[in-house]
Amino acid sequence: MNFKTIEWKNDKVILLDQRRLPSEEIYVEYSDYKSLADAIKAMVVRGAPAIGVAAAMGVALGALGVDAKNHEEFIQKMEKVCDTLLKTRPTAVNLPWAVERMKKVYLNFSDFSLPQLKQRLVNEALAIFEEDIDLCRKMGKHGASLIQSGDAILTHCNAGALATAGQGTALSVIYEAAREGKKIKVFADETRPFLQGARLTAWELQKNGIEVTLIPDVAAASLLREGHIQKVIVGADRIASNGDVANKIGTYPLALAAKTHGVPFYVVAPFSTIDWSILDGMKIPIEERPESEVTFFLNQRTAPVGVQVRNPAFDVTPYELITGIVTERGIAVQPLERNLKNLYGK
Ligand code: MRU
Repeated sequence: MNFKTIEWKNDKVILLDQRRLPSEEIYVEYSDYKSLADAIKAMVVRGAPAIGVAAAMGVALGALGVDAKNHEEFIQKMEKVCDTLLKTRPTAVNLPWAVERMKKVYLNFSDFSLPQLKQRLVNEALAIFEEDIDLCRKMGKHGASLIQSGDAILTHCNAGALATAGQGTALSVIYEAAREGKKIKVFADETRPFLQGARLTAWELQKNGIEVTLIPDVAAASLLREGHIQKVIVGADRIASNGDVANKIGTYPLALAAKTHGVPFYVVAPFSTIDWSILDGMKIPIEERPESEVTFFLNQRTAPVGVQVRNPAFDVTPYELITGIVTERGIAVQPLERNLKNLYGK
């Protein structure tokens, strides 16, 4: 990739400010966990795996700033750091998954030495970062086996390098298929209201030399009916154990339209996106974003003052509409619940 979404450098976190894309490619430095938490909330960094990595780095930043006389005091101070990060965005499970993994490091640490514990936490955050790069590649390779040369692929939101530490989830499949020499083109939904498709996916694919056509979200069903699209491939923010998938708002209608028109619908996500404790998608917490995202466009008011607004940022696609889930360990097809567990080795 010719940009870096997230990086740990000299005990600081560097983020590509995704709110400014595609007009400006600006990198911002964070040296304390509170400002990093604000950045996650404001979507400077976004996408399920990327906010997991960012939260892990946030815990490491928090630890670097803590002074404690003993292990108990350290744990007490770190609870506040973790709580602040956990409260940033509720839907993507990668975030609590990463924070829990960081917590285990400091809870299970014996023979208290503050500098050593801080170093362990930095190492763990870097391990989560490196693992994500590897998982992206693996998912991409498995997913590329589904792609035929000449396919046109529709994607929603941004599930690419901008959403991970590596080369993405759904878009990793596209990058790997292109590397294998397959000729593919991508249709990117613009993804109202935050425009991750228009601002981020179109930018990222163009930058990496993949043919991309941007469409309004509402054009997707007609393109599917008219036979312009051979596969729909999206990412996920949280997958329930029955295979229901929470992803960016607008994914569910896309899956309905794909089913109606007989187009395969694939989800690409690492196992860290599966929440085994949630039995079905209706129990997944759905983030509500500020109403200004709906009532303003380019700082212009586009709806009357006082109108009631709902702005759910994610929806849930029922497992029956999903052809398969591509993971780092292979592809789970129907019945998803059983095959996901088999792949995971549960
Ligand atoms: O609100 P966002 O931009 O964080 O939402 C991102 C998505 O919905 C992605 O599709 C999902 O996180 C998968 S990213 C690999």
